[in-house]
Amino acid sequence: MTVEITVIPGDGIGHEVIPAAVRVLESLDLDVETHEAVAGDAVLEDTGTPLPDETIGLARETDATLFGATGHTSADVIIPLRRELQTYANVRPAVAYPGVDALHPETDLVFVRENTEGVYSGIEHDLTDDVSVLTRVITETASRRIAEFAFGHAVDRGADAVTIAHKANVMRLTDGKFLETAQAVGEHYPEVETRTAIMDALAMYLVLDPTEYEVIVSPNLAGDVLSDLAAGLVGGLGLLPSANLGEERGIFEPVHGSAPDIAGQGIANPAAAVLSLAMLLDHVGFPAEANRVDAAVQAVLASGPRTPDLGGDATTESVTDAIIDELAQ
Ligand code: NAI
Ligand code: MG
Repeated sequence: MTVEITVIPGDGIGHEVIPAAVRVLESLDLDVETHEAVAGDAVLEDTGTPLPDETIGLARETDATLFGATGHTSADVIIPLRRELQTYANVRPAVAYPGVDALHPETDLVFVRENTEGVYSGIEHDLTDDVSVLTRVITETASRRIAEFAFGHAVDRGADAVTIAHKANVMRLTDGKFLETAQAVGEHYPEVETRTAIMDALAMYLVLDPTEYEVIVSPNLAGDVLSDLAAGLVGGLGLLPSANLGEERGIFEPVHGSAPDIAGQGIANPAAAVLSLAMLLDHVGFPAEANRVDAAVQAVLASGPRTPDLGGDATTESVTDAIIDELAQ
């Protein structure tokens, strides 16, 4: 059966790295059909909404979505889209690849970030001109669901330990609930060690020695921040893919944003988007092709050509060509 994929380039370098990933996909000649949809800043200007109903509808109907990045409308695009598709788990691997000048060349981490609540639940308002408040929502249901996902993921990848990142010493009720719930889930996985870490200290330990960690499960904001920190450990945002997963539909996207500072120059690193495509292929039933795409990206990262973020002078197009050549071998 043909696999149907929604493709949303978005804004900025989304229009450069997503077409690159689609070219890689097309070179594989799989039984996959892509449907392009719009979202983001430019669509807001044109139509008055950054996330048109047709885009949500397509993402709902198709088997998976490949998303680039949107600009300042992000909070009104990717967050509602994750919610609409009930993708409660944001999986962000941070791997240092051979040949990339990484701060810690041995890094091999995966962040499992709760994607639906925490401080990103959108309950924010002004009390007075002087006072603005934000409600942080943590539920036992979502905490259990994300912890089960994280421990299951750890078993799948043969990890020895899951680290629960939290700040329960200060946010006693909310992160207290997250921590207790995740620890209770951990008890059902005797083959995986349950570790806990206070998130600010964890940020420091990750910089000192990321090899101490394997799978890190956290509430929403902490996962966002810690995974970007991990991007810095392995060579930059141009390298980090991610998957938003739920019961069924997945949204796959580079961790980076629309990068207005380099947009339109044709020099964005396509690796994060192509690695996101690999995660998508794995999800929709093409695990062998996913591994091949992953290996092709790794081969090109090791030998070049490289985009300027990795110290090279290659273009998005020439790196993509090299990935496609590698796949053809
Ligand atoms: P950013 O990730 O767009 O850029 C941060 C830095 O990393 C920039 O110097 C950029 O040039 C570089 N970079 C990012 N991706 C790269 C790539 N593939 N190749 C080479 N260099 C790359 O984050 P920033 O600057 O904080 O945000 C820019 C815009 O993107 C904002 O409007 C923000 O709201 C949006 N954003 C959207 C996201 C999404 O759609 N999921 C996620 C993060 C930010
Ligand atoms: Mg982020």
